[in-house]
Parts: sequence; C-alpha cells; structure tokens
Amino acid sequence: MPDTPFTFTLPFPTLIPSHFDNHIERRLSSLKGQFFDLDTYQKMLAVEDSLVYEVYEIRRPEAAGEILTGISIVHPGKVGREFYMTKGHFHAVIDTAEVYLCMKGEGCMVMENPQGETSVASLYPGSVLYVPPRWAHRSVCTSRQQDLVTFFAYPGHSGHDYSTIERQGFGKLVLEGEKGIEIVDNPRWNKP
Ligand code: PA5
Ligand code: NI
Repeated sequence: MPDTPFTFTLPFPTLIPSHFDNHIERRLSSLKGQFFDLDTYQKMLAVEDSLVYEVYEIRRPEAAGEILTGISIVHPGKVGREFYMTKGHFHAVIDTAEVYLCMKGEGCMVMENPQGETSVASLYPGSVLYVPPRWAHRSVCTSRQQDLVTFFAYPGHSGHDYSTIERQGFGKLVLEGEKGIEIVDNPRWNKP
C-alpha cells in the first residue's frame, strides 16, 4: 500500500467513490434476528434475499494512526413497519470514535453505550455526526424512495464487534407510524 497522499471523489448522484478497494453487500439474511417482526422477516426472506445495504471501503492498514474511510448506502425498504438498517456494531477496540457525514437521503443513527444509555440522531444531507468512543451505532434509512448515503471515518485499529448487538439488539426501533417516523422501545432488547 503506497504511503503517499491520495485523493478520490464522491461523484453525484451515486456517491460511489471513484476509487475503492472493497464492496460489501448485505442482504436480509445477514440481519437474522434483528428486525422486530420475525414473521414478516421470514416471509420476505422466503421470497427474496433482498439487498439492504452496501459499503464501499478504502483500504488502509488496520493500525492506530490510520483512518479508515468509505461510503455506506442503506436502501429504502421495510420489514413490517421497521425501516431497513445496518447490522450495527460496537468497535472491537471500544474506545474508538467514528465520524459520519450524511451526503444523501433521510435517516437516523441509533446508538447505545455498554451501560444501556441510548441516543438517536437524525441524518440528512450535510449533517455531521460524531459517534463518541464506546457507542454502538446502526444507520437506518427512513426515506421511502431514496438511499441513505453516508461517508464515514474511524481509526484504523477499531475493528468491529457484531456479536454483542446480535445477542442483545438495540434499545430503540425505528418504525413507520401513521403520522410519520416513530422511535419506540425494543420489547426484545436484552438490556446490558
Ligand atoms: O464503520 C462503520 O460504522 C460503518 O462503516 C459501517 O460498517 C457501515 O455503515 C455498515 O454497517 P455494519 O458494519 O454495522 O454492517
Ligand atoms: Ni463503526
């Protein structure tokens, strides 16, 4: 990997980086047990393992001092009343933060810390979110038509801990209600 400065662009309207090293596709099947409406989830999955979100990563050494960047795209969709979302994770090195810049779409970041405190931040074009160390994070696309596109940056040595969230879920769900978006307590949350 060259240790010289480099640039890339995020061309409108797709915002797919002009250069990237890794393209991850995550489908319904990789979110097993995370959506509240398990019945609807199973029925949808039986018809099609739909694409829920994609990540374009710029590779750098996974070392402290490096910064990992990329683009996350959550597609519009719902399982029952619950909007499409990422798996969500703590960083394996839990004392590492992350910055998100929303470039397109509407959505929110659902967050919680190991003490079970929760926080939900709106994401809209131009919004910048600082996720402090120790806060797990999950992006949710709340638009019915448009992708939620965010640029992210986090320390190279952060790593990902998916298993804690797979086990306990997040404390808050983001649902489509009759009067708009509803953020409700997750009845199945295994509170830490
Ligand atoms: O590092 C991040 O938080 C993001 O790049 C996410 O990895 C991305 O949004 C995909 O979410 P997840 O890693 O929870 O599948
Ligand atoms: Ni992260």
